[in-house]
Amino acid sequence: MASFFGSIEYNPGGIKFEVIKHNINCADLFPVPLVIDNFGESARELNRRLMDDIHLEMEQEDTSVSRSFVSAWQSESGLERKYASFLELQKHIEASAASYLAHIKYADTTSVECAGLWANCISGAGGHSMYHIHGSGAVIATGVYYPSSLIKDRKSDREDLNDFNPQSIFRETGVGGELVIYDPSYIVKRQVIKPSGSHYYEALKTISPRESLLILFPQYLPHSVEPLLEDQLKRYSISFTIEKSP
Ligand SMILES: [Fe+2]
Repeated sequence: MASFFGSIEYNPGGIKFEVIKHNINCADLFPVPLVIDNFGESARELNRRLMDDIHLEMEQEDTSVSRSFVSAWQSESGLERKYASFLELQKHIEASAASYLAHIKYADTTSVECAGLWANCISGAGGHSMYHIHGSGAVIATGVYYPSSLIKDRKSDREDLNDFNPQSIFRETGVGGELVIYDPSYIVKRQVIKPSGSHYYEALKTISPRESLLILFPQYLPHSVEPLLEDQLKRYSISFTIEKSP
């Protein structure tokens, strides 16, 4: 194909086109892969042990580390070296990450690892996390695991964790604590007078925490956590990075 820039070679098979009208094709360029893995009921016992160990860690002095969270507790990284529950979770995350990296055709999935798990707990109104990304350099992807849904009335004890629709997590909770993931072009998109109902101009996605869910996404995606709105609420999460092994 000749153009102002000369000959352009491209692989039509590598780009998905949608026919929107005769002879008119549309491609969604630069997709951002976000993976949701529901560990479901099989992780309920692991979740209980993770919660016990988070509480154990919180009870120890000088274990709170200042990261992106505000009015909240965050542990040091590397809890997989301290607790069997976190080591077990690390292995589950690595299995999911291998599927994720294979799906996005990351060249070498054999030399990556889930490194440095850390725990976060927001307790009461106002606690939140600022806009941030995880890691740099060797970090390929990042994510979060929820050992618990938002705790306000132990409702999570009664729900069937296997009963899950991925679409259902993209919603607001009504009580805060949502994970917010931002398009890397967030600022530019927000400057555009947006048509309503067009996902091409969406600049952020809101995710409601739910017990047993693992969320994986690229390292370059900024994210934050909305403030909890009620004092009796607690929100637990476990963060990590997926990176190339040294
Ligand atoms: Fe984070």
